[in-house]
Amino acid sequence: MRALVWEGVDALAVRDVPDPRLENRQDAIVRVRRTVTCGSDLHLLGGYIPFMRAGDVLGHEFLGEVVEVGPDVRKHSIGDRVVVSSFVACGRCWYCANDLHSCCDNSNTNPAVTETVWGQAAAGCYGYSDAMGGFRGSHAEYVRVPFADVGAFKVPDGVSDERAVFASDSAPTGWMGAHLGGVRQGDVVAVWGAGAVGQLAARASMLLGAERVIVIDRFDYRLQMTERHIGAETINYTRTSVAGELRERTGGRGPDVCVEAAGMEAHGIGPEYLYDQVKQQLRLRQDRPPAVREAIHACRKGGTVFVLGAFTGMVDTFPLGALMNKGLTLRGAQTHGPRYIPMLLDRMERDEVVTEHLATHVLPLAEGPLGYQLFKEKQDECVRAVFTP
Ligand SMILES: NC(=O)c1ccc[n+]([C@@H]2O[C@H](COP(=O)([O-])OP(=O)(O)OC[C@H]3O[C@@H](n4cnc5c(N)ncnc54)[C@H](O)[C@@H]3O)[C@@H](O)[C@H]2O)c1
Ligand SMILES: [Zn+2]
Ligand SMILES: [Zn+2]
Repeated sequence: MRALVWEGVDALAVRDVPDPRLENRQDAIVRVRRTVTCGSDLHLLGGYIPFMRAGDVLGHEFLGEVVEVGPDVRKHSIGDRVVVSSFVACGRCWYCANDLHSCCDNSNTNPAVTETVWGQAAAGCYGYSDAMGGFRGSHAEYVRVPFADVGAFKVPDGVSDERAVFASDSAPTGWMGAHLGGVRQGDVVAVWGAGAVGQLAARASMLLGAERVIVIDRFDYRLQMTERHIGAETINYTRTSVAGELRERTGGRGPDVCVEAAGMEAHGIGPEYLYDQVKQQLRLRQDRPPAVREAIHACRKGGTVFVLGAFTGMVDTFPLGALMNKGLTLRGAQTHGPRYIPMLLDRMERDEVVTEHLATHVLPLAEGPLGYQLFKEKQDECVRAVFTP
């Protein structure tokens, strides 16, 4: 089959790779109809996560049709149209039983790497290097879906492919930021990043009762889209002081909940950002956290900062003093997809969560390298490239 493979830093190609086979009794094989680029793939593309090997298939967000099922698959049959959670979860361990699916203890077949780096292993994830289980990614014609009854969800007939594919990862991620960030009726929420994840965190905050939601970015086309399709307020941080403006819009107090959806390659302004960038480029550390820093400074005392953006290692420009003295709660997580996907598919069916506007570039898989270039460089007003293998 054809697949989009990583060949080295900033090098992608479409190649033939072996077809996947059923390997375990709970596996299904899915023929991919839609698969989407994600901000998390950019960290792999740029070599910031040093466990990719040339020839690895990228992609972790996808929707398709079940074409084969193992003997222990109960929920799905051949022909079902399903969306699949980006993280692989067993459904049976303590973490899965407690709705912490991206912390699953059984799905990462190569736990040693993340155990060493983080103290405990993360779950497996499609197309996300050996460190996350070495599962082949979804930018391909077919994917093997382990624990198919846990990770795959039948899509209601009324929900289009372009909408439902976002239930794989960005919609549950955004929802999780608002939900586990503790958004309550009447809150003011600020979101850093107007990509798909930030926009859907803003939408989730509104549906959870926030009174005002303010999204921050530097790309006007993304901010305008956020105003038009999500209905949130915006700030362009290259033209306005974010901290001052947030204070202004919250009666001097600051937002109750701050959601960071920019990640380890976040951009910034000022001397601290220059320092972050130099250290990252010299590979003295993996992450640069300007948006996390700004969120901690802007958040009201006693508020919550939720980190949705992906980070991998240590940072040395982290405002621990502000966190402690302001009485903040800091949380973060990879997405617990199965916890939120059925609810999100229902909301998609009721038009409460709409995502078609995020699919700015729908391309055949053969044009995968172009799709990634547009997405990475934010060219041609790209928000997400969607591939149709
Ligand atoms: N936690 C999870 O499970 C999960 C799932 C999906 C994606 N992510 C992560 O979420 C992040 C966003 O993903 P995406 O697909 O929306 O990416 P994206 O690249 O489309 O969007 C990121 C946006 O952040 C903006 N940004 C950069 N620096 C900023 C700053 N200092 N302040 C405000 N905005 C800033 C960029 O301009 C861009 O518009 C990535 O880091 C990705 O890895 C996490
Ligand atoms: Zn993703
Ligand atoms: Zn589990």
